[in-house]
Amino acid sequence: MNRRPLIAGNWKMHLTIAEAEALARAIVSGGIPADRDVMLAPPYTAMAAVNKVLQDSPVFLASQHSGWEDKGAFTGEISPVMLKDAGCSMAIIGHSERRHIFGESDQHVNQRLTGALRHGLVPILCIGETLEEREANQTFNVLETQLRGGLIGVASSEADKLVIAYEPVWAIGTGKTASEDQVQEVHAFLRTLLEKMYEKDIASQIRILYGGSVKPDNVDALMSREDVDGALVGGAALQAESFIRIIHFNQ
Ligand code: PGA
Repeated sequence: MNRRPLIAGNWKMHLTIAEAEALARAIVSGGIPADRDVMLAPPYTAMAAVNKVLQDSPVFLASQHSGWEDKGAFTGEISPVMLKDAGCSMAIIGHSERRHIFGESDQHVNQRLTGALRHGLVPILCIGETLEEREANQTFNVLETQLRGGLIGVASSEADKLVIAYEPVWAIGTGKTASEDQVQEVHAFLRTLLEKMYEKDIASQIRILYGGSVKPDNVDALMSREDVDGALVGGAALQAESFIRIIHFNQ
């Protein structure tokens, strides 16, 4: 199965409007190879400016988060309708920083994911174990709970649009990357699980990204593994040079 690779940049809570605009411009001018997808998730304040820059490029605009209601009294939230209106086509859902710093449960993640799908946003469902969980041999249990919990109510007919991001919490922003073997082992496990949840041909279309200290010097090896279909990049997406190199993996 030939899955189209996706390189996703998550800018988190960084960059002013002018900085975000300049970075998006630099990334676009680095060129986007025709055989892969690229996505940028700027902070909300910079979305309009970045959307303008991306307009004539193949790069997708994404959100780092999404609410589930269309509108209402939900101070601080953002609705999938607003994100569509702002030009987003994808949304990161359940990032570990949301789960661990802001206490998002699998139930919240599921509501956010189904809300995004309902409005035609491609959800990138993030899952990942902590170091304690890995050391206690709980990795696969934790991932299965997060995957099944996040996808409750998602029908086969919608599942092929999904993107899953495996992001071990101990590898995010720490400079520690999971080894390629660890990543491939987990991605193969997730693919098998998706085959049990949906039909095999649907599971084979779902892209599974790896995230956690992806850098120019490890992206080629990671992207060479069978079930690694892309990367979700934080720190290295904040500099044009390193992100452009990541976009051009294995070239
Ligand atoms: P990192 O972040 O690349 O800085 O480790 C990845 C992520 O949080 O998506």
